[in-house]
Amino acid sequence: MPGDVGEVLISEDALKRRITVLAREISHVYADTPRGITMVAVLAGSLIFLADLIRRLPMKMRIGLMTVSSYAGATTESRGAVLGSVSLPDLRGRDVLIVDDILDTGRTLALVQTEVRRAKPRTVRTVVLLRKPGKAPPEVTVDFTGFDIDDVFVVGFGLDYDGLYRNLPHVAVLSSNAQDLDGVT
Ligand code: IMP
Ligand code: MG
Repeated sequence: MPGDVGEVLISEDALKRRITVLAREISHVYADTPRGITMVAVLAGSLIFLADLIRRLPMKMRIGLMTVSSYAGATTESRGAVLGSVSLPDLRGRDVLIVDDILDTGRTLALVQTEVRRAKPRTVRTVVLLRKPGKAPPEVTVDFTGFDIDDVFVVGFGLDYDGLYRNLPHVAVLSSNAQDLDGVT
């Protein structure tokens, strides 16, 4: 495992501190939402972020889950987003906060935001832990961002490479010798 994982980009401590501040920002925006909010988490990447974030949000909330896949196997090249299983409470008239791990090309969030809007919620906002620069089209917007990072492939804190390394407590850069093994075999 250490062979595939490069330098630590965001430490466990920095993640904790930023998520605490992010939760404060989010609580502020939803201060007048007596019916509470509905989180829609994009699995599996947002799992750890979701767990840390919601325990710092004091308001009433329901949680829905969606799976979207974009990376088949050992690759760091996005192949387009495909909707998987959906387990959502009724979103009609609700204040929905979509939670994802990272905004890269924006294909995943474009798909999820469209799917959520079809259910006629009252408001739709999006929070991502990480954001890579420049690739997402202007119509794919996020309302809250944890960290802006360079265009490098990262793992840990929920993010995977070929299904691995989600359990790292920090965000690390994937070492270059681990990348795109499926392209060379
Ligand atoms: P997008 O659809 O290109 O915006 O990519 C979003 C999805 O791709 C995220 O939800 C992640 O699952 C995955 N992804 C994008 N960049 C990375 C990365 O650097 N490491 C791990 N997964 C990534
Ligand atoms: Mg994802």
